[in-house]
Amino acid sequence: MRAWQPGCDWTSARGCLGDTARSVPRLLLLVHVIAAMVWVGGVVVLSTLVAVVLKVRDMNAISAFIGQLRVIGPLLLAPAPLLVGCGVWLVLNGNNGWDFGQLWVQLALGLFGAAFLIGVAFQSRAVIAEQRAAARSNHAEATRQLTRWAWGTRLTLVLVAAATWDMVFRPGV
Ligand code: HEM
Repeated sequence: MRAWQPGCDWTSARGCLGDTARSVPRLLLLVHVIAAMVWVGGVVVLSTLVAVVLKVRDMNAISAFIGQLRVIGPLLLAPAPLLVGCGVWLVLNGNNGWDFGQLWVQLALGLFGAAFLIGVAFQSRAVIAEQRAAARSNHAEATRQLTRWAWGTRLTLVLVAAATWDMVFRPGV
């Protein structure tokens, strides 16, 4: 198992969870992985839903979906600070020999930064443009903006999938 828990008996909480020095990184990893699950899961669900909505090409369905994005978009990005915060803390913790000079850690930060920037800069603007077009009943423009947003979501999915690969295979280690 992990180097930060030498001699840990994984069948019992004694000696593992009872030891604060060992259980803190474990809890950080737990929060980190849950945040990743929420983010990746949310992106998968949204990219599937937007594909269905765009395929149906029903303006009511498109407008309803765009309306929901105002709430869902920020919710989707909410776990991101927790994800990066716990990840950076795990590296700073140093118990597992990780440091910021390692390729996999740098890749993680780069992939996370790119996915987060797409969400904040590109996706949120596309949602605002979609909502404006829908409010003006400009169906063609709303559909065009939603198609752009869908591509942004797919790109985010590729980036977070690459980050998950990086976490598991840790290139350079
Ligand atoms: C989209 C971005 C990310 C995803 C989906 C993700 C996902 C994961 C997953 C699934 C694990 C468990 C891997 C395993 O135990 O085999 C993990 C572990 C870890 N992640 Fe991330 N992560 C992301 C970003 C980051 C970032 C930005 C950092 C900070 C540099 C980071 C640092 C770590 C560390 C240090 C571990 C613990 C490795 C260990 O000792 O087992 N992660 N991550």
